[in-house]
Amino acid sequence: MKIVPSVLPADFARLGDECQALEKAGVDRIQFDVMDGRFVPNLTFGPEVVASVRDAVSVPFEAHLMIEQPDHLLSRFIEAGCQLIIVHEEACVHLHKTLATIRELGAGAAVALNPHTPVDTVAHVLDLLDMVLVMTVNPGFGGQSYLSSMEPKIAAARTVLDGADRWIDLEVDGGISANTVEGAAAAGANVLISGSALYRHPEGLAAAVKELRQLATGAYRRPVTG
Ligand code: DX5
Repeated sequence: MKIVPSVLPADFARLGDECQALEKAGVDRIQFDVMDGRFVPNLTFGPEVVASVRDAVSVPFEAHLMIEQPDHLLSRFIEAGCQLIIVHEEACVHLHKTLATIRELGAGAAVALNPHTPVDTVAHVLDLLDMVLVMTVNPGFGGQSYLSSMEPKIAAARTVLDGADRWIDLEVDGGISANTVEGAAAAGANVLISGSALYRHPEGLAAAVKELRQLATGAYRRPVTG
């Protein structure tokens, strides 16, 4: 079970310190929500910002590219220090080629699926995947409400990924909190993105990470395949 914070709620004036606090809190990776103002109606940061905090921590980085034409920036985010690159299926005309390029550049490759996008769109690229991200909100902003209607899709995704000849992680992103994490884990998610719930926890980041991990681990069920 992996707990991966989104940095969206962090204080960007102290992003390096914030990453160190996340690492100290026991997170497994840190996710940078990259938005271009076109694929999603919000704009965040580029590879230079990721590079500026890379040496502040040793925990792995993942870049969630909520951008059109991600091919242009793959190498920049990997050179900036991201070990995992997540592209949106909806933004990739040649998804197979894009994933192969990410792996050739030495990073892990993942595909994110917006709520409307069927799981079967990744069925023919499993050999290139290290992870699939099932969005539990429509991307663009933190603090949105979890879409529990995505739980059957999470379970369906786990079944598709189990058809691969090796393990592929299943991540969820959007509205993940102590109130929603058990539903996502019970459906088969084993990597959990959380932003606002982690930062709003009354007992701080470490307590929030520990609580999410405990709840998710207790609820995690491998759906019966077939
Ligand atoms: C949506 C963003 C958010 C963020 C997590 O585009 O990707 O899902 O990472 O935000 P919370 O945990 O606040 O929903």
